[in-house]
Amino acid sequence: MDLKTSTWPRRHAEQLAQLHRLLPESADRPLAVANVGPGLAVRYLGRIANRNTVVGDLVRRFETAVRRLPMPDACFENYEATELAAALDGRRFHLTAIDINPRVVRIVVKALAPNAAGVVADLGVANSPVLLQLRERFDVVFSFAMVARVRSAFADNARDNVRSLVRPGGLLVGGGEFGAGDIAPVEGIEHFFRRREAASPAA
Ligand SMILES: C[S@@+](CC[C@H](N)C(=O)[O-])C[C@H]1O[C@@H](n2cnc3c(N)ncnc32)[C@H](O)[C@@H]1O
Repeated sequence: MDLKTSTWPRRHAEQLAQLHRLLPESADRPLAVANVGPGLAVRYLGRIANRNTVVGDLVRRFETAVRRLPMPDACFENYEATELAAALDGRRFHLTAIDINPRVVRIVVKALAPNAAGVVADLGVANSPVLLQLRERFDVVFSFAMVARVRSAFADNARDNVRSLVRPGGLLVGGGEFGAGDIAPVEGIEHFFRRREAASPAA
């Protein structure tokens, strides 16, 4: 399956540092975190690709070509989910990797075991039963460069699906326009959105 999984180390380092600052130091339960479209790269090659040099660019092209070859999971690695886990810095968490590509999901779950679970789902599908089950489950939803990979006719579904995962009061960190309805941009912090807390029942 070639769904353009390109990623590289520290791609979202700025947003992860910001997330670290925003999250409370402690909580009475593990944080529920979703990483939607974590991506993967060929082991080792992905680490030297995409530097802003001629060599880095050549390695990136080579890595993209090699990634399409049939190879075992052990030949690939993910950076985003492990960096996300590191940014939580000792806080208890459980991470759910959500991706259309089963290989991406397997690799993240293995890297973060026992603190991770995986869900294979196409975010471009509206009312997907598997995603409906995850509705408003997550304190943090982290999703970059996934909506851009969904065909434009289904991109609104993808955005709606990502939004639907965030629980009231929870954060959505992502590239793209996610602000809508009760999800609003966090003032002054690019790529951060928050779902409004649920209104308390009238006395
Ligand atoms: C370009 S990579 C982004 C990787 C990483 N988030 C980053 O920013 O470096 C796109 C990711 O979205 C996933 N993806 C593409 N289309 C998808 C879809 N329709 N539903 C769910 N995931 C999808 C790919 O498998 C891949 O993991």
